[in-house]
Amino acid sequence: MSNYFVIGNPIDHSLSPLIHNYWFTKYKIKGIYKKKNLQEDNLEVFVQSMRDDNVKGANVTVPFKKKIIPFLDELTKIAEETQSVNTITKKDGKLIGHNTDVTAFGETIKDLKRNENDKPLNSLIIGAGGVTPSILFAIKHLNNSASKIYITNRTKNNADKLLAETSKHFTENLKPKIVEWGNVPKDIELVVNTTSVGLIKDESLDLDFSDYTDMNNVIFYDLIYNPKETKFLSDAIKRRNKTINGKMMFLLQAKQAFFKWTNINVEIDHEVSKILDK
Ligand code: ATR
Repeated sequence: MSNYFVIGNPIDHSLSPLIHNYWFTKYKIKGIYKKKNLQEDNLEVFVQSMRDDNVKGANVTVPFKKKIIPFLDELTKIAEETQSVNTITKKDGKLIGHNTDVTAFGETIKDLKRNENDKPLNSLIIGAGGVTPSILFAIKHLNNSASKIYITNRTKNNADKLLAETSKHFTENLKPKIVEWGNVPKDIELVVNTTSVGLIKDESLDLDFSDYTDMNNVIFYDLIYNPKETKFLSDAIKRRNKTINGKMMFLLQAKQAFFKWTNINVEIDHEVSKILDK
């Protein structure tokens, strides 16, 4: 039996075991996926324990996506850029850190825009927390050519820090711009909530998007999927904007991790999608 883990703190709420164990059963793989609540002091010991032959991989969640990096042997380019690892694989005895959040987010945007032209999207990223660098780089990779990226965060200092840590990867004209909390730029086509605001029902970000009323080409994206419809999204629906929650991104990051571990390209079926509605 191969062992897989998701590590974090807290970890009780994680739905990853339900998803991966569903796929292990569906695709008849002898694997078991468990939650592990870790203290930061135990990170290194955990990573060492992954070198055991019975352990085949792991997911990493809040607050260890960056803290785990010094203990790994290699990083993929995107994990290096974002300084954020959500998936660990083993190859030739080496532990490799990946970031499947970036590609998962990118895929959901491509799907949303499938029937439209591929022009870059001026984007506003709200927040500067653990998942924000993944969204920043996903948008950078999506856009390829020019487009504006704005970042706004309640605590400006945290946005400054995020920019300082990532700016070497952006050319001067594409560097993200920080906007004061409360100001909303007039020329955005994608708004992503990367904050934790909305996890509690009806909790609301104090930002005014009324200028975007009746703009059905503007995408409001909340990374939260539980609740299904945050106030950020229900307000956008009322304005008749396009909306998406974080459910598909969550499933896609899991699908991509599963592929890295097993080489199986799982189908995202109704059953697995239902698991996240619990
Ligand atoms: P993570 O563990 O994902 O890194 P975090 O560090 O708590 O989570 O960051 C969550 C994000 O939500 C941050 O951008 C945080 O803003 P601050 O940098 O100002 O703390 C944001 N956030 C949390 N509560 C918020 C609130 N009530 N209003 C606005 N932003 C909030």
